[in-house]
Amino acid sequence: MPSDTLSIVDNRTGERYELPIQHDAIRATDLAQIRARPDGPGLISYDPAFLNTASCKSCITYIDGDAGVLLYRGYPIEQLAAHSTYLETAYLLAKGELPSAPALRSFIHSVLTHTIVHENIKAFMDGFRYDAHPMGMLLGTVGALSTFYPDAKLIHDPMSQRIQTHRLIAKMPTIAAFAYRHAAGLPYAYPDNDLSYAGNFLNMMFKRTELKYRPDPVLERALDVLFILHADHEQNCSTTAMRSIGSSQADPYSAIAGACAALYGPLHGGANESVLRMLGRIGSTANIPGFLERVRAGEEKLMGFGHRVYRNFDPRGKIIKALADEVFGVTGRNPVIDVALELERIALEDEYFQKRMLYPNVDFYSGIIYQAIGFPLDMFPVLFAIPRTAGWIAQWLEMVQDDEQKIARPRQLYLGEGPRDYVPLDRRRGDSGIRPPRGRGPGDTGSRRPG
Ligand code: CMC
Repeated sequence: MPSDTLSIVDNRTGERYELPIQHDAIRATDLAQIRARPDGPGLISYDPAFLNTASCKSCITYIDGDAGVLLYRGYPIEQLAAHSTYLETAYLLAKGELPSAPALRSFIHSVLTHTIVHENIKAFMDGFRYDAHPMGMLLGTVGALSTFYPDAKLIHDPMSQRIQTHRLIAKMPTIAAFAYRHAAGLPYAYPDNDLSYAGNFLNMMFKRTELKYRPDPVLERALDVLFILHADHEQNCSTTAMRSIGSSQADPYSAIAGACAALYGPLHGGANESVLRMLGRIGSTANIPGFLERVRAGEEKLMGFGHRVYRNFDPRGKIIKALADEVFGVTGRNPVIDVALELERIALEDEYFQKRMLYPNVDFYSGIIYQAIGFPLDMFPVLFAIPRTAGWIAQWLEMVQDDEQKIARPRQLYLGEGPRDYVPLDRRRGDSGIRPPRGRGPGDTGSRRPG
């Protein structure tokens, strides 16, 4: 018997099955041959929230959650944060290898010359309410870009893939900064392509009346490092949304709008904003024990703590903590850091967090740096979306080139009513109407067949 197999005995029938194991995985479709009756439904696996299901093969990002390891295309995040730039990292993620010097120059030139958006995009953004959340504006506007670039529908055309990649990486900071200035009532600041990617973003955010904005080099580098740290994180919620939407062969702008929507939630990219709001509510170190009491009682969540994959420490969090000191050297100390440090110290000694292996994640400290630089709280998820664009595109490119991928279409366990007859309105009683006689149960109908 070959060793790389899984033997399964179906105790309903006594049948024995051998399923091949490859890359420490079985194929869920191999379970379909296991049936209680020859004409009955095949076995499927039930995995809400994909706790133990791989949806793709990928060569982009590797995470070892127990060891706190994060690699982009094999390169440790610590080395990239120390030596790379965001645009070089974006190239690495999309293409698979670090660029040569001419290739990097050409990539940077191409991205920096695509930073301008069509004037109608400005008009489109003007339509948002004065107090629109910038993340809502970002996801709406990046979706609208698909109408400006109909060639993006050529998803299998390498030229189109290349140009949409450059456009998306280039235009996300512009849209993000415009969203901020719309809310602030400031005139839009156009891109300055003499500046670096991060420097130009700071320019579009913070330029006032000066003729030339000159970013502080420490803040510019800190932002670039934060962008590197957020560039990809394998199959998280927003990347899964990107791949799922892209699997229907929608254009990448539409898919990124969906990925932004997934990132917006407070359990994902919205967590950095929630952390700062939480630290604001806690107010001072004296209130930490009372706050943690409420967390233990299930009345609150300690935002910025916990991760589906990291069960030891988040390597990005360590780098960010060190970065905070460099930023404070320029901006002055953000007093919120004292509450955060004390909160982390007490939580890490607390049995509730130890037992559940909850540690600070990337969002615990990133917002404190963003705030020190001068970004308003509601820009924090946007600051996550800008760099994650490189990862989303890399994952999308990998998906559209993967022959094994098809349109995403999970199965379900149908537990609802069996077939029943429509009840006319005048025969229904009360709030929920009369319950007509139950039809045959779903187990009898084979109703798991996909529609
Ligand atoms: N505060 C308090 N309790 C928590 C927290 C938290 N931040 N996170 C998890 N738990 C508890 C949870 O209640 C559960 O307890 P019990 O076993 O008693 O029911 C246990 O820990 C396991 O948690 P889970 O919800 O099953 O874990 P998950 O893998 O489904 O969720 C998570 C991961 C990140 C959504 C969650 O830890 C969380 O909500 N954290 C706060 C939000 C946050 O910081 N999100 C950013 C994640 S990192 C950036 C990114 O990639 O988006």
